[in-house]
Amino acid sequence: MLLEIEDLVRRFGGVRAVDDVHLAVPAGELRGLIGPNGAGKSTLFYLVSGHLAPDRGTIRFDGQPIEALPPAARARLGISLTFQTVHLFQGMTVLENVMVGAHSWTRHEFVEAALRLRRHRREEPLIKERALAAIERTGLAEWAGTPAEALPLGRQRALQIARALCSTPKLLLLDEPAAGLRGDERRQLTHLLAGLRSEGLTMLLVEHDIGFVSDVADIITVLDRGRVIAEGTPAQIRADEAVISAYLGSSMDGDALDVV
Ligand SMILES: Nc1ncnc2c1ncn2[C@@H]1O[C@H](COP(=O)(O)OP(=O)(O)OP(=O)(O)O)[C@@H](O)[C@H]1O
Ligand SMILES: [Mg+2]
Repeated sequence: MLLEIEDLVRRFGGVRAVDDVHLAVPAGELRGLIGPNGAGKSTLFYLVSGHLAPDRGTIRFDGQPIEALPPAARARLGISLTFQTVHLFQGMTVLENVMVGAHSWTRHEFVEAALRLRRHRREEPLIKERALAAIERTGLAEWAGTPAEALPLGRQRALQIARALCSTPKLLLLDEPAAGLRGDERRQLTHLLAGLRSEGLTMLLVEHDIGFVSDVADIITVLDRGRVIAEGTPAQIRADEAVISAYLGSSMDGDALDVV
């Protein structure tokens, strides 16, 4: 397993945002993660990326326990997260924003300040090349020189993915990358995810649109109030009574999930 989560718990006051979660994702899988608002999906991502610490439990990445490592160390191991809310560096171009994503693998740590300039000069062409490739892949080529904040929302989401790809991840955590995307942008994203999957990149995809997840995911895990309530193929999940009632509170048919 590339990612192995056991007994994971994270509370916020009285709320068990992540409540005894077990999750195992083999290398190369695209795992869908769905659940109603407040189910704990983003919290689970932050626990894996290191932006939040667990109250209990273990997280192993490539066999190594990582729950005590800070986010930068996890990024260097190959864990990359795209946030649910778009984070941009204002006043920087799309290319520069994507190049920032290379930070984790170029190891520009502040303790290396003395070496920084020399090293940076040597690495920059490589970073730029990698950033341009990521920009091309995510359909942003014509915007490379545009200020990032001038991009439409759908393109800003693509930028986040480009930035994550620039860090050459082994595990990509995508938190609602399709939110607010229109038809064409959505199809491009489906195509991109399918392409990354065929190259063997392991991904976890949080998304409310079960139709979108079903198109790209191998297996879907369903969270509700911090707990895993179902896991299976897209077809199994769409037919699962517990899933349907978690989303809709009644026994409607699976197709009704499309509107969630
Ligand atoms: N920083 C925080 N402080 C307090 N409570 C939090 C915090 N972050 C999350 N929570 C609570 O933890 C629970 C899980 O939240 P989380 O954001 O992980 O859900 P989610 O599944 O990502 O929801 P959404 O689909 O709305 O993005 C919710 O009850 C939320 O209010
Ligand atoms: Mg969330």
